[in-house]
Amino acid sequence: MTPLLTDRPEWQALVHHYEAVRDLHLRDLFAADPSRGPRLTIEAEGIAFDYSKHRVTDETLRLLLALADACDVRGRFEAMFRGDVINVTERRAALHVALRAPRTASIVVDGVDVIPAVHEVLDRMSTFATQVREGSWRGHTGRPIRNIVNIGIGGSDLGPRMAYEALRAYADPALTVRFLSNVDGADFIEATRGLDAAETLFIVCSKTFTTLETMTNARTARDWLLAALGDPAATSRHFVAVSTNEDAVRAFGIDPANMFGFWDWVGGRYSMDSAIGLSLMLAIGARQFGELLEGFRSIDEHVRTAPLERNIPVLMALLTIWYTGCFGVETHGVMPYAQYLASFPAYLQQLTMESNGKRVTAEGKAIPYPTGPVVWGEPGTNSQHSFFQLLHQGTRLVPVDFIGFRRAVEDVGEHQDLLTANLFAQAAALAFGRTPEELRDRGVPERLVPHRASEGNRPSSVLLLDRLTPAALGQLIALYEHRVYVEGVLWDIDSFDQWGVELGKEIAGQILPALRGETSTTAYDSSTAALIERYRTARER
Ligand code: F6P
Repeated sequence: MTPLLTDRPEWQALVHHYEAVRDLHLRDLFAADPSRGPRLTIEAEGIAFDYSKHRVTDETLRLLLALADACDVRGRFEAMFRGDVINVTERRAALHVALRAPRTASIVVDGVDVIPAVHEVLDRMSTFATQVREGSWRGHTGRPIRNIVNIGIGGSDLGPRMAYEALRAYADPALTVRFLSNVDGADFIEATRGLDAAETLFIVCSKTFTTLETMTNARTARDWLLAALGDPAATSRHFVAVSTNEDAVRAFGIDPANMFGFWDWVGGRYSMDSAIGLSLMLAIGARQFGELLEGFRSIDEHVRTAPLERNIPVLMALLTIWYTGCFGVETHGVMPYAQYLASFPAYLQQLTMESNGKRVTAEGKAIPYPTGPVVWGEPGTNSQHSFFQLLHQGTRLVPVDFIGFRRAVEDVGEHQDLLTANLFAQAAALAFGRTPEELRDRGVPERLVPHRASEGNRPSSVLLLDRLTPAALGQLIALYEHRVYVEGVLWDIDSFDQWGVELGKEIAGQILPALRGETSTTAYDSSTAALIERYRTARER
């Protein structure tokens, strides 16, 4: 039986050490070691990861790495890459790394090498994307496709949506690409507003092909299309599916020839580089989609080969364990200094919180220590003018990841320098703050000194990449995927299931007939029953 994290001697050594270093200030750590900045920076695969502004000493890092060793992080990576059943509650491999493995690789699951199938789907996607982009895939009336609407939710939406926004500058401007996820009819209205059905392709993305929101939106989209084109045969030229469930795809009326498959060993939130990324491939083309996969692959190589102390996702994860477990940190900020990455924090919310928001171990034992923090964020510099006040002077400790780029996707005057100056300034201000003495020396009136003082000692990492390219985006996503895995290994949780989201879905299914007046409300608690009655009365009126 795997020992609980907190029962391990390496953890107890870390907690003991925490008592000795908890009040050390980053100002002093930097003063004591003039080379701390470059010394605590890792350069790998064109990325610089500066973790010097964290509240760690060399001893902290040694103890965290000893913990990683005790939890067999290296062995657990090998298990993942080998295709072992690491999603234990669902008895499956979690093999998203196979999605970007080269053609020459071989990963055997249940006696079958999965790599040929991965590349067969990639090749079909590429042929289809080229046909649509070049106009040889025509709509029912013979017109070329100009609009793509991706219908999906959660992992079947957030990844391609985020990546499309991030790589907009690389997309074919002649194509309109939209994402429809919410069962709120407003989302449907806005996603289809102004589109000509004869030029619109819907990609129905759903691993299970049973998700309420997606199937409702897909049916509404089909009605919308048929109302405009008037011929049920039109569906075959205007709907394709991405799913693992061929029977359900066929039952919906989509020809399996127009279905792009993936496999149960790809978790929804780890699927954006599978066929779930079809809308992105349509937008940026197969070649640039291939570059995205190369970015993922370079980080897969890095996590497998770099020693743990030079391994970026491992260090990112160990820092999370340190802050949540010892400092009691509850949330973690991710601030991309790139407007194109505006949706990256939302994407990470599913990736990290659906993976590690768990309260039992993989073996089902109650966990007595905090697990995944709340992840949140917004692009800088906008966020500086909204919630950064709390980061600088609030009563909570919020570690932050700053993500920046040396070069802009498109240079506009001196904007990139201004953006980057702000990123570096925020990281420094959080770390070093401004003391009352410094304020007095600057002539600040005494009554304002307490208000203006910033205590500093607020930790952050800086991830500096060259330019937001498809490959760089692949690298960023893979860094966080692997970070989540290492955190899960240390907390001993199954990072690949999501049982917690099932209960609400089940109850919604029961409430729906009551809302329609088909069943009584007596089975519900008094609050839910009264809400249903109130809604029903208003609807009837
Ligand atoms: O509700 C959670 C969830 O199961 C996610 O894990 C998943 O990404 C999403 O729903 C969508 O599921 P599907 O791709 O099967 O429609």
